[in-house]
Amino acid sequence: MNATPNSGLILGIESSCDETSASIVRNGREVLSNVVASQLIHGNYGGVVPELASREHLRNILPVVHEALSRAAVTYADLDAIAVTEGPGLAGALLVGITFAKALALGTGLPLIAVNHLEGHIHAVLMESTTPSEPWALDPEPSLALVVSGGHTHLYLATPTPQGTYTYRNVGKTLDDAAGEAYDKVAKLLGLPYPGGPWMDALATHGTPDPALFPFTQIKQKATGNTAPKLSREATHTDDPTRFDLSFSGLKTAVRRYVELHHLQPSITAREAALRAEGLATGKPSNPQTLTAALTHFDAQTLNLIASFQNAVVKNLARQTFAAAAHFGARAISVSGGVSANSQLRATFTSMAAQAGLPIAFPQVALSTDNAAMIAAAAWPKWQSQTFAPNTLEPTPQLRLG
Ligand code: KG4
Ligand code: ZN
Repeated sequence: MNATPNSGLILGIESSCDETSASIVRNGREVLSNVVASQLIHGNYGGVVPELASREHLRNILPVVHEALSRAAVTYADLDAIAVTEGPGLAGALLVGITFAKALALGTGLPLIAVNHLEGHIHAVLMESTTPSEPWALDPEPSLALVVSGGHTHLYLATPTPQGTYTYRNVGKTLDDAAGEAYDKVAKLLGLPYPGGPWMDALATHGTPDPALFPFTQIKQKATGNTAPKLSREATHTDDPTRFDLSFSGLKTAVRRYVELHHLQPSITAREAALRAEGLATGKPSNPQTLTAALTHFDAQTLNLIASFQNAVVKNLARQTFAAAAHFGARAISVSGGVSANSQLRATFTSMAAQAGLPIAFPQVALSTDNAAMIAAAAWPKWQSQTFAPNTLEPTPQLRLG
């Protein structure tokens, strides 16, 4: 039995990694505001420094929440609940969001809702639809959700419950690096700024992929027991036909080997220095001027290498996703998480879904990467079923879904 909302407005708070975000979402679907403060400081270190992330969250959280309320033109009195990311993520980073949300819930008397970050990513696709009469992307039963980000690469079968919430079953995951992590590590290897995914995406369109360079990595694993899975490029099958796992660290190693073999290091070092000197390392590759200026520092061989890497990542993801969809008889597919912003991924998945006759949903590009709107959206079914967090809520850095 669903409760009757005051306004249907939920304030979402997200601080699991390096974005401090707050958002106001109505009825789990209409984004009134979504403020994201990205922590550029980590760019100087080539990756997220947990201690610095916590401090940045602490500095940003209050202004970000105020800004979210102000942009949505609402006050605390208008809200129905406060939702916050419980995990997975960096413990110290999560702690800032959770502590803040608990204090806010206490001060305002509003209920607190704990949200799994991965469920948040999945719910980001629900805000894609602009017409309220459209069916929700996760409603077909079951749907297959690929969450592909810097920290995670998971395939879930999602099934709606009569309460309006969803149950999830993990049917595949990366056995080593997340896809976004592989993007970021390879980008770093090639002298590109952090996070590398958007750069690799933009540069890949200027290269020609060679599919022979990085052949598909097959995963051979034991169906039972705790033995670590064996990763083998030569293996031709997996022993457990109900698992659709992935692996990306071999790909990263193959790029490193290519760089060594072709003596690319001097040009990488020179490029890295040039991008910094010209201020391009802190720019966004989505800016055409930044990209054009950066491209002058790339040779065809490197651009082809980037295109080949991206092609291998996307093909690996697509192959396992569509194999899982066929195996479990999924009736719809959703793809979310930072890497779902990738242009080749979107094009490939869209065309494969059309061939398979399956509807497919992606979040708006701005909601692919970490944001609080997805947290408020995932909290909505929990609000309707009055599933609130205990006042002892604490971060769960290794929180799982399904
Ligand atoms: O979802 P997200 O913001 O944070 C995590 O929960 O991990 O994902 C960030 C990841 C980074 O690894 C970033 O390089 C990657 O998403 N990413 C992309 C693109 N945009 C972001 N990877 C490939 N292509 C993109 N366009
Ligand atoms: Zn994320």
